[in-house]
Amino acid sequence: MTEVSKLTESFITLGALHSSTRAGRTLILDYGSPRVAITVLTDRIIRVRLAPDGAFAARRSWAVVQADDAFPEAVFEIEESSYALVLRTASLTVRIERDRGSLSFADAQGQAFCTDEVGMQWNQTTSESRRVACTKRIEADEHFFGFGERTGPLDKLGRQLINWTTDPAHGHGPGTDPLYQAIPVFLALRTGLAYGVFFNNTWRSHFDIGARRSGVWTMEAEGGELDYYVVYGPTPEQVSEGLGALLGTLPLPPRWALGYHQSRWGHATDSMVRDLAAEFRTRDIPCDVIHLDIDYMDGYRVFTWNSQGFPDPRGLLADLRGDGFRIVTIVDPGVKVDPDYKVYQAGLEHDVFIHRADGAVFHGYVWPDDAVFADYTRPEVREWWGNMQKALLDVGVSGIWNDMNEPAVFERPFSQGVGKVGTIDLDAMQGPEGERTTHAEVHNLYGYGMACASYEGLRRQRGSERPFVITRSGFAGVQRWSTCWMGDNDSWWEHLELAMPQLMNMGLSSVPFVGTDIGGFNGNASGELFARWMQFGALAPFCRGHSEIGTERHEPWVFGPRVEAICREFLRLRYRLLPYLYTLFWEAAQRGSPVLRPLLYHYPDDPATYQLHDQVLLGPSLLAAPMYHPGREHRHVYLPEGVWYDWWTNELLDGPLHLLAFAPLERMPLYVRAGAIIPSGPDQHYADERPLDPLTLDLYPGNGAFTLYEDDGYSFEYEHGQFSTTSYTLHQTADRLVFEIGVREGAYVPTTRRLLIRVHAVGEQAAEGHPGAGYDSVHRLLTLEFDDDGHARTLSFKIPDTTA
Ligand code: GLC
Repeated sequence: MTEVSKLTESFITLGALHSSTRAGRTLILDYGSPRVAITVLTDRIIRVRLAPDGAFAARRSWAVVQADDAFPEAVFEIEESSYALVLRTASLTVRIERDRGSLSFADAQGQAFCTDEVGMQWNQTTSESRRVACTKRIEADEHFFGFGERTGPLDKLGRQLINWTTDPAHGHGPGTDPLYQAIPVFLALRTGLAYGVFFNNTWRSHFDIGARRSGVWTMEAEGGELDYYVVYGPTPEQVSEGLGALLGTLPLPPRWALGYHQSRWGHATDSMVRDLAAEFRTRDIPCDVIHLDIDYMDGYRVFTWNSQGFPDPRGLLADLRGDGFRIVTIVDPGVKVDPDYKVYQAGLEHDVFIHRADGAVFHGYVWPDDAVFADYTRPEVREWWGNMQKALLDVGVSGIWNDMNEPAVFERPFSQGVGKVGTIDLDAMQGPEGERTTHAEVHNLYGYGMACASYEGLRRQRGSERPFVITRSGFAGVQRWSTCWMGDNDSWWEHLELAMPQLMNMGLSSVPFVGTDIGGFNGNASGELFARWMQFGALAPFCRGHSEIGTERHEPWVFGPRVEAICREFLRLRYRLLPYLYTLFWEAAQRGSPVLRPLLYHYPDDPATYQLHDQVLLGPSLLAAPMYHPGREHRHVYLPEGVWYDWWTNELLDGPLHLLAFAPLERMPLYVRAGAIIPSGPDQHYADERPLDPLTLDLYPGNGAFTLYEDDGYSFEYEHGQFSTTSYTLHQTADRLVFEIGVREGAYVPTTRRLLIRVHAVGEQAAEGHPGAGYDSVHRLLTLEFDDDGHARTLSFKIPDTTA
């Protein structure tokens, strides 16, 4: 077990500043031998680096998308006084005390943030792995979110968090840390001021957020540089945007990847997969993707097929494709040691595997027993690995599922019962030519590198089609290559609860395309648990059901007709919402925003949202309050300031409001923000089965706007302008609601279609005098139908004061 902190008196801190020089966008501070570099990337993004011996390592930054100098020119001034240096950009200042090098940031109003308490520290050592640390002040009412994949609450104040990719023992609980991902990125928030931090260090590191000592937070690493980026908001939205500029954003996924995925360890034969697919279609439950777990391989040899279970994979995949199904295959990093196996032979020939400190190839046990592991930190190895995927792509595989890439290494051969799960020797050697280093330094990058190899391989080999990769492990920036699922959860109510803050915190850490195994991986879900999980899962960015071999099956119909009907209804809802969801992914790709958001993202000045781990926002408009306790039909819901509508009844609710929602098994409490414009499409068995006709726009009276993004959903033509955006605005005055449809912009032309406008929660008079208006007085729903000819159009009609 990692000792969380070694900060001791023997750590060294900076002394008095000797001199300072400005080199381009960097201010270099000289403290005798140690030096500090402060680099201005933008007016809101500042990088801080410490070189205890005065020399900044030339080593690359693995996660940051571009070199510091590639950011547009940054304008800043430096003021000097006898006490301090003040670096001033258009949005913030950084103050550097002359006597002990402590840094503090402040916004334009002079509010301090990210202020050093102890400042930068290091210990005296001759070895490469010197510890570095930095301790800063926690401001009054400041709270902390993000940190990648974690257990526990939404707000991480009072917790210690380790960054070390790990395959944890089964049954993780609120105290389990770390998990599979290492994403040293967080958001600090207090009323009126949010900032983000990326700790740019791949060694084992940790954050202590006021746990050992209240009032201060620390970041500390077991090697490498003290190197961090501060991303000023002041809103969480701006922090996400800044982190996106720094760490990259996800590329647009293919639309089919936003559909439902069905997986199971144990889909072991061709006929099982065919039956599974047929079941979805016969039962009219939407599904796009079936995942094949390790059973499809020949003796767990990656990039092969088990010819007994799958005698004709090409035929199988073609038939499934004809029925609208895609296949995603698992690919583990462990390559079976078998002299007759081509991938192993070729890997030895190209010297792609990791070597031990003594020079021999490192061996470890995983599914195929004795195995070796490719070194994905080397570009030529990534290319080699990516090309291996051809064996799968050639038979029609649509996506790659990377697993066990923390990497997990068993104590004993799988055939003898696994034992404890460890990893590669920390002194094993890795890295590109000229940058050789130990596994200890790049361990956290293993899954990240593997996902990158998979993504780039798909991109190279399939040309025009967007890759789809899913990974269990990753580092900051993994969103550029892959979707992430949260690993092996259990069929427990506690794990359904844990999924909510986990996914939202991933989103705040710049990784928006995330999901958990619906129903739980280990163990057997009850029908009730499965139904509740599906309700939440249907709104998760990545929506996949999965289960472990030897457990009961976790498919929508196995729990009887009531649960089946619930799964059908919620998956249909997801599919209808695809135009909305797809637009949220476009926003994520453009601006780094999360798809599934905690309420604090849109209500940062309402501290009542900071601890809301069990309510989620899908984009700006849809609020869900999932049910996560057995036997309950009611739960508390908090609606922040503003007008809200109950999704199911159209009831108008005036926030801020605490309410007791009624939620029988068929209902997950859902609310829509006033002013919301929610685009949706027809029911479908799989994404793009039918054209988007009619395009439905659900309007919830109030003031709001929405820009719909559209493109072909599968190619890279959008990079060449083949996309379109349409802006809709809704404006409410005392006696009118005006809905305006902007001109469609961009080269992509959707099919000719009808627009179905549904105005919710309006009184009877609203329908009067409008040609084509249909009014359903029971549901207080006005429906107007007209053709979409692409021209600007204004709809204007009277509505009564529904709050009366
Ligand atoms: C790991 C994965 C799980 C998969 C299993 C077999 O436990 O996390 O999803 O089913 O390996 O491949």
